[in-house]
Amino acid sequence: MTIKEQIRGLLEENRGNFISGESIARKLYCTRGAVWKAIKSLRADGLEITAVTNRGYCLDDKGDILSEAGIRRYLGKNGEIIVFKTIDSTNTYLRGLAANGAGEGVLAVSSEQTNGYGRRGRNFFSPADTGLYMSILLRPKFSAQTAVKITAAGAVAVCRAIDKVLGISADIKWVNDIYCDGKKVAGIATEGALNIENGLFDYAVIGIGINVYKPQNDFPSDISATAGVLTETQTADTKNRLCAEIYKSFMELYHKLPECDFISEYEKRLMWKGGKIYIISGADGKIKTPAVLLGIDENCALKVRYENGKEDVISSGEISIRR
Ligand code: BTN
Repeated sequence: MTIKEQIRGLLEENRGNFISGESIARKLYCTRGAVWKAIKSLRADGLEITAVTNRGYCLDDKGDILSEAGIRRYLGKNGEIIVFKTIDSTNTYLRGLAANGAGEGVLAVSSEQTNGYGRRGRNFFSPADTGLYMSILLRPKFSAQTAVKITAAGAVAVCRAIDKVLGISADIKWVNDIYCDGKKVAGIATEGALNIENGLFDYAVIGIGINVYKPQNDFPSDISATAGVLTETQTADTKNRLCAEIYKSFMELYHKLPECDFISEYEKRLMWKGGKIYIISGADGKIKTPAVLLGIDENCALKVRYENGKEDVISSGEISIRR
């Protein structure tokens, strides 16, 4: 970790309290000049740091800026974490690392994405500072057919983290969308590369995008009716905590795949269970088949009953569901 990141860590540990330049310099074996230089650079990154003669530096106690030190405070020391202020897409970035041999568990996080995408390559709105955009590199040892289980484990992990950090209950719209109060607050996109000789993954990347706060210029008109945010009120370290909790919870579930011991939790959070839905399929989603949503099976496929009484199990592929 650079001196700057370490100073950021110290300020975050003492958030709302002053810490003197001298004690920072002593702790990190650097000069006070180096401390001041890092403080200037942290301010340029957007951190609100007050400097008072004879007292030192104090980090605003409501600040919520993603940082490696901030995430590590909740996650611990191990593992590679790469934090960006802005990037095209954290999924694209990790696909690049995977191709160069990076190992399982690398976490890439950004405060903004200029080319974020979701399932079927659809644009994922990722404005600066109000969201959390994160991806995890995986080297799964199981068949690529079970990719949907990675997404499902991610959905459960996101719901658990939202619950733990903000005390808000979250629901899952099969298979990869997270809703709070009837609005989509997060989406998950899993992608990967196959080893065609053995049908196993070469790598997979799970990407998670969360609308934590309201975007500065609101949501674009095409999603404004459906998109929502987790909270209206900014609180210190919410994004760092969410990121760490999602990572911990997801990795725990992932290490138990391909068996899924989270199906009942997923089903409890499943939106529209027992209700009428439309299964959307075909080119441009033109085919709408009415059905009752019964639940999910052990492979995270959707169990439905059609109007003629016939029951079916459908896997995510090219379909989606609507109310
Ligand atoms: C969806 O709603 O269809 C899924 C959206 C997934 C977005 C996340 S944000 C982090 C990662 N990087 C991307 O470009 N996409 C995923």
